[in-house]
Amino acid sequence: KVVAVIMVGGPTKGTRFRPLSLNIPKPLFPLAGQPMVHHPISACKKIPNLGQIFLIGFYEERELALYVSSISNELKVPVRYLREDRPHGSAGGLYNFRDLIMEDSPSHIFLLNCDVCCSFPLPEMLEAHKKYGGMGTILVIKVSAESANQFGELVADPVTNELLHYTEKPETFVSDRINCGVYIFTPDIFNAIEGVSSQRKDRADLRRLSSFEALHSATRSASTHFVRLDQDILSPLAGKKQLYTYETIDFWEQIKTPGMSLKCSGLYLSQFRVTSPHLLVSGDGTKSASISGDVYIHPSAKVHPSAKIGPNVSISANARIGAGVRLISCIILDNVEIKENAVVIHAIVGWKSSIGKWSRIQASGNYNSKLGITILGEDVTVEDEVVVINSIVLPHKTLNVSVQEEIIL
Ligand code: GDD
Repeated sequence: KVVAVIMVGGPTKGTRFRPLSLNIPKPLFPLAGQPMVHHPISACKKIPNLGQIFLIGFYEERELALYVSSISNELKVPVRYLREDRPHGSAGGLYNFRDLIMEDSPSHIFLLNCDVCCSFPLPEMLEAHKKYGGMGTILVIKVSAESANQFGELVADPVTNELLHYTEKPETFVSDRINCGVYIFTPDIFNAIEGVSSQRKDRADLRRLSSFEALHSATRSASTHFVRLDQDILSPLAGKKQLYTYETIDFWEQIKTPGMSLKCSGLYLSQFRVTSPHLLVSGDGTKSASISGDVYIHPSAKVHPSAKIGPNVSISANARIGAGVRLISCIILDNVEIKENAVVIHAIVGWKSSIGKWSRIQASGNYNSKLGITILGEDVTVEDEVVVINSIVLPHKTLNVSVQEEIIL
């Protein structure tokens, strides 16, 4: 058997994702009409002999419960949410639940970050991993030299693919090959994490003895359980014939900001052409709106036949799109109303918001800059003929004048 673990993090980690994370845990934010975490979960379906999927995080149980039970039923693979009482780091969280993860004695454990967008070539990784014969295999991609420092940079042997050197978010350039946050391990990973924890504990005990300083001992012993996979495990194990790399040439992005979620929504929509074409709207449906490129429309949404939609548009449940509306590169969330002849370009429109007639919600579409896409939080009202450009509007606001390059608090 094989199991998969998806690290979903928790509420404090999602601050860069505001204002969208005010309403929904980031792992449930819809990309291409499906919750973010749904994409790695459905990729796990392709793993041969998959026994269980675990989500590990520190969100409240009830925030994820509904999704977890519905996806379990749908996939016919048990999906369980394991809640940490506080963050233990990516490796610490895994280690915490080792007994549950090892319950059915799996031979391999996949570990996936929830906030990455890629094609998740998991069966291919498993094959490569078995061939290498190490403890772990890391999914790797080549990025531009300028962007590499936002990630773990690594060097691998070009012939054997062994991981030779690993540095997390280095200040000076190491390599344009980076860690994609997708791994496969044998159960030996737990020994490696335990090794780090006990070494730290020894050191902390030693310090305590030598300094007579008991004041911070509580925090110190707590920190011995905080283990990061990248810095604490991958770096020291590089060059020891235990870790290997598998390079993908498909797409890969990290989803830390709303701008990137819009970009990734588009990447997943185009992947649907291959994996789930039934989820995309085809332009030839009778009396449907005119569609260009990849578009997802929830079955409960109402779209006027004279609207023009796409490319890269996702429309969630119960949205109403009026006559003559133009939508390009946007995510329209549940219960939004867009009135006649409004235009939305490079934007995310929050739950229950309302956009007036002839209004324009738009942005430059630079996904990496803070105001590169326009975001309306939950329940924002934009009145008729108002233009909102490169701006972020927090929940429950009403806009009756046009704004540009502003954050409306
Ligand atoms: N359950 C749990 N508990 N999850 C956590 C915790 C924790 O204490 N800390 C982080 N996570 C989750 C996050 O939600 C995310 O999905 C994943 O673990 C990694 O988050 P970080 O540890 O904050 O690292 P990062 O995203 O800045 O960078 C990592 O991922 C990159 C790829 O996306 C590093 O491994 C980089 O090297 C890598 O390039």
